[in-house]
Amino acid sequence: MLQPSRAPSTDKATIYHEVAQSIAAVLEGEPDRVARMATVTALLADAFPLFFWTGFYVVDPARSGQGGELVVGPYQGTLGCLRIPFGKGVCGTAAATLQTQIVPDVHAFPGHIACDSRSNSEIVVPVFDAAGELIAVLDVDSTAFAAFDETDARWLEEILADTFSARP
Ligand code: SME
Repeated sequence: MLQPSRAPSTDKATIYHEVAQSIAAVLEGEPDRVARMATVTALLADAFPLFFWTGFYVVDPARSGQGGELVVGPYQGTLGCLRIPFGKGVCGTAAATLQTQIVPDVHAFPGHIACDSRSNSEIVVPVFDAAGELIAVLDVDSTAFAAFDETDARWLEEILADTFSARP
């Protein structure tokens, strides 16, 4: 019989703490940004079965003159939309405002971009480099409504800061 790797009652903060440690250990000495993003999505998606789509939308430097555009980066999940203009949908709102977005019901979010109609709630966290420049957003979607709260926001912000904003 398959054994769950963690007791179902393990609380979210404990799992985030373990994942944060795993990400830091795996990425020790690895400077490549794509490798870092791919590792973050793989470890987060594996740790949280509630995460239906987990991935990065990266700031496309080629489109900086046109108001800004995100292009899909490393992700785990079903097919994601390729491009999202700043200001559009939840990801574009996070990129334009530089603020984490917690959306309990995506169908109630004006301009939400439905890449997969099974998504019902999401959290999007801006990602900054060591100079404080926006480089991407992390988008996590769930088929459950209201899957994300301040605990997710705090931990994801911390993991992303440790992984992408720390000075080498
Ligand atoms: N839901 C996002 C679009 C990206 S996908 O869900 C993978 C949004 O509205 O920004």
